[in-house]
Amino acid sequence: MNNRRNSNYPPGPKEKWLTGSLRAFQSSPLKFLTSLSEKYGTVSKFRLGPFQDVYLVNDPDLIKEILVSKQQSFIKSRDIQSLKSIVGNGLLTSEKGFHLKQRRMIQPAFKKTHITTYAQDMIDTTNKYISRWSSRAERLVSDDMMDIALGIISKTMFSMEFEEGASVIGEPMEETMRTAVRRMRSILPLPLWIPVKQNRKYKQAIKELDNVLFRLIKERKETEVEHEDLLGVLMRAKDETDGLSMEDNQLRDELMTIFLAGHETTANALTWTLYLLSQHRKIQDKLFKEIASITRDGPVKPEHFGRLTYAQHVISESLRLYPPAYVIGRQAAEDTEINGYRIKKGDMILMSQYVMQRNRKYYEDPHTFIPERFENDFIKTIPEYAYFPFGGGPRVCIGNHFAFMEAVLVLACLSKQFKFTSPHEPQKIKPQPLITLRPKYGLTLLTTKRR
Ligand code: HEM
Repeated sequence: MNNRRNSNYPPGPKEKWLTGSLRAFQSSPLKFLTSLSEKYGTVSKFRLGPFQDVYLVNDPDLIKEILVSKQQSFIKSRDIQSLKSIVGNGLLTSEKGFHLKQRRMIQPAFKKTHITTYAQDMIDTTNKYISRWSSRAERLVSDDMMDIALGIISKTMFSMEFEEGASVIGEPMEETMRTAVRRMRSILPLPLWIPVKQNRKYKQAIKELDNVLFRLIKERKETEVEHEDLLGVLMRAKDETDGLSMEDNQLRDELMTIFLAGHETTANALTWTLYLLSQHRKIQDKLFKEIASITRDGPVKPEHFGRLTYAQHVISESLRLYPPAYVIGRQAAEDTEINGYRIKKGDMILMSQYVMQRNRKYYEDPHTFIPERFENDFIKTIPEYAYFPFGGGPRVCIGNHFAFMEAVLVLACLSKQFKFTSPHEPQKIKPQPLITLRPKYGLTLLTTKRR
């Protein structure tokens, strides 16, 4: 039961009148949010700038209230809304009735039963990629994981091979994301209509992406062949009430959204997993034993996924410690109330997976990597929203099963063939919370082929 409070405002830090906690939040969001939760508990309040009130909600029942039962009172935060210049009105950024209609149309493509058809592509892409690795080398594995995830999304969405996907979509997308992040970080981003160099480059990269996506859609319309990739499934999807399929512009927005949301997150999850394994030799050995005993002398196969239970626990535990989506933001669409506090229209709510999933109330030894904690249905023994790497409610990650299966299968292919240990030179590992949580200076590991 939450401890209801009568005071108008929850506790929070002492702040400067003009900037509030802007500097502390921007310079180190994870540290700032963690310290708020430790000092003030369930709900705390701070300001970003003179007018933006922000509430950090740090209680599983309240998080459920915001994401599920009171979700009608909230819309996506301004950060996410600003991505509209790239992804238009796709699933990530659309709201209310339109979001629901789109979600209903797209959901079948991501059903557990359907995504298993992509498992073989995930395995083949990974094996092909690592077949080029030498038997012993120091590698920037954070870039490797980005390449593999990009290869998988290109193949499963468009039936494109990695090289083509990387050059025609991956690179312009990287360029747009770099600028998008810069714009999010700046207090007053220049409006896009001002023709400065940065804006021109940004718009050019978006235009390149548009050209590619509209060309792919057009080519598909002209062919008789039915494709089972995500583009094929989305093109055939029909609204259950009016029976209409998506217009090209909407299809473009959804494709861009899924491409954007669907590769960097999984790449970062895999990078953090390899980092954790490189630090925990015994866990890495135990994982290898499981993979070896299930796959024997053969390759990893789609049907192994369900049996790779330790690999699944390794991924779950990595998503707990280093959740690629480390915070979920919402903006109040109307005046409402949370835990007895009045929330005004326009106020922001933050719910942080990074903070919640390291809370010692729910996790023993919370900062230590212990995949075994996920054994025996552990997740059912803690409150529902004490673990929420994929969010929840009607806006739960549509790619959650896809991402989880992808992470487990890629990890199995990598670990079957290679050992991952620290490089000779010590490296600094610092989580950098941008749109997703990634290691600030990348991750280099020594990769050694298993005999
Ligand atoms: C480990 C990998 C991933 C993580 C941690 C992750 C996390 C999340 C989270 C937390 C949200 C909810 C955001 C919110 O409520 O504001 C979300 C939404 C979304 N994710 Fe993922 N995601 C991952 C992989 C993927 C993949 C592989 C895809 C697609 C192939 C994908 C597509 C989406 C889409 C389209 C949404 C918006 C859904 C909606 O609002 O209806 N994600 N993701």
